[in-house]
Amino acid sequence: MALERTLSIIKPDATRRNLTGKIVAKFEDAGLRVVASKRIHLSPAQAGAFYAVHKERPFYGELVAQMSAEPVVVQVLEGEGAILKNREVMGATNPANAAEGTIRKEFALSIGENSVHGSDAPETAAQEIKFFFSDLEIVG
Ligand code: CMP
Repeated sequence: MALERTLSIIKPDATRRNLTGKIVAKFEDAGLRVVASKRIHLSPAQAGAFYAVHKERPFYGELVAQMSAEPVVVQVLEGEGAILKNREVMGATNPANAAEGTIRKEFALSIGENSVHGSDAPETAAQEIKFFFSDLEIVG
């Protein structure tokens, strides 16, 4: 398996409940390394641009409002097969379908407030990392 990087966002529902450390521990326990990290408060325009792929979906307005309501922690995670591994650690988008031990099973409140976002493929990982980080900010 190849060494990969993926973009993770710890969402407002999780930062609000002071769960950042518990969530990062799940990544690290799975063998993922945090090679870039910052806490930021997205504007509605920035959240809308990040999730532009979902623009036509009925939940887009609520998603943008939730993601810009309070701070998020954006991170680059690195590891062997990091994109898939992160998705396994996160669990299914809808916490009702998430497996035991996953972040979303343990912490998510609903499908919208599902605590974490992770890139879904190599192309999106590259785009999403670029959205938040310059090369200088990523230290492997
Ligand atoms: P995320 O992985 O960040 O990608 C898009 C987000 O939209 C998703 O997690 C959810 O938080 C949110 N969302 C809200 N409703 C839905 C839905 N019905 N299907 C998929 N995603 C949804």
